[in-house]
Amino acid sequence: MNTGELEAVARSLVAPGKGILAADESAPTIEKRFKGIEVPSTEENRRAYRDLLFTTPGMSEFISGVILYDETIRQGSADGTPFTKVLERQGIVPGIKVDEGTKALTGFPGEKITEGLDGLRGRLPEYRSRGARFAKWRAVIDIGDGIPTRYCIEANAHALARYAALCQEAGLVPIVEPEVLMDGGHTVERCEEVTTEVLSLVYAQLTAHRVALEGTLLKPNMVVSGKLCPVQAGVPQVAEATVRTLRRCVPPAVPGIVFLSGGQTPRQATEHLNAMNSLGKQPWELSFSYGRALQDPVLKAWKGKAASVPAAKEAFLHRSKLNGAARYGKYSPAMEEAV
Ligand code: 13P
Repeated sequence: MNTGELEAVARSLVAPGKGILAADESAPTIEKRFKGIEVPSTEENRRAYRDLLFTTPGMSEFISGVILYDETIRQGSADGTPFTKVLERQGIVPGIKVDEGTKALTGFPGEKITEGLDGLRGRLPEYRSRGARFAKWRAVIDIGDGIPTRYCIEANAHALARYAALCQEAGLVPIVEPEVLMDGGHTVERCEEVTTEVLSLVYAQLTAHRVALEGTLLKPNMVVSGKLCPVQAGVPQVAEATVRTLRRCVPPAVPGIVFLSGGQTPRQATEHLNAMNSLGKQPWELSFSYGRALQDPVLKAWKGKAASVPAAKEAFLHRSKLNGAARYGKYSPAMEEAV
């Protein structure tokens, strides 16, 4: 695949009014989500839940792509149709999480490194032959006493760039996800400082690794106050700080920025995206690649009950629609009540 084809996929993922559903929770993460609604994490329950999401009528108006997990890309709908086909038939692009999670960074207490580079080149062609056209790799940076260290940021940026180069070689658009966590009591200013350093180093590494930025997407955190910080930045401040940071660090060759929700409530994630898209035209599309912010209301409506599937689909469509509106800066709180 040449750069033009990769760019076409990347641009389709950030098409106007649309964004990405992150449904790539690893086995331990989906177990945690299911525990919250008292549903056992069996393979069939995981399949049934993803089936519910991916067969929601009308979702393709607001959802451009779905990130799958290794188990999920091998599963299918109740009638046996592979999930990748279920999505493709709706014009939705399937993607795949290819990192193997985070581990403690040896020698750097409290910091993490994402694993999964070993053997990655060998794993990618199979995902592509199953229909994946883009991939995701998440690096995690924690803010705390004396952290992050420069070494941790560099090690993670290097891994992200190695991953991105391998994806492009295999004909997959890499979503580059360096997540600065919102856990902890840090201020919004500290989040901005760390996010600036992280993004600067990530783009230096991507360039050094000769990654074609036109065929990539960035999935960053928003610049927000730490969850435990006594002073919480409001919506306009978050929007301004986030856009300022991105304008300083992300080259205009990147087609789009697809935010993670990272523990924000569904409503906050929508409000923040809406406020950013109200600030005027930017060099890249500003969109979403939400996991929890799209799925929390769905899980609550579903609770593992077959009879609740229609209500859960409605909750998913509604949240997707609100984020679709936020892509144009046209969301309003009154729309929350419309269900
Ligand atoms: P959240 O939106 O729940 O942060 O998930 C997005 C994601 O894919 C994290 O890797």
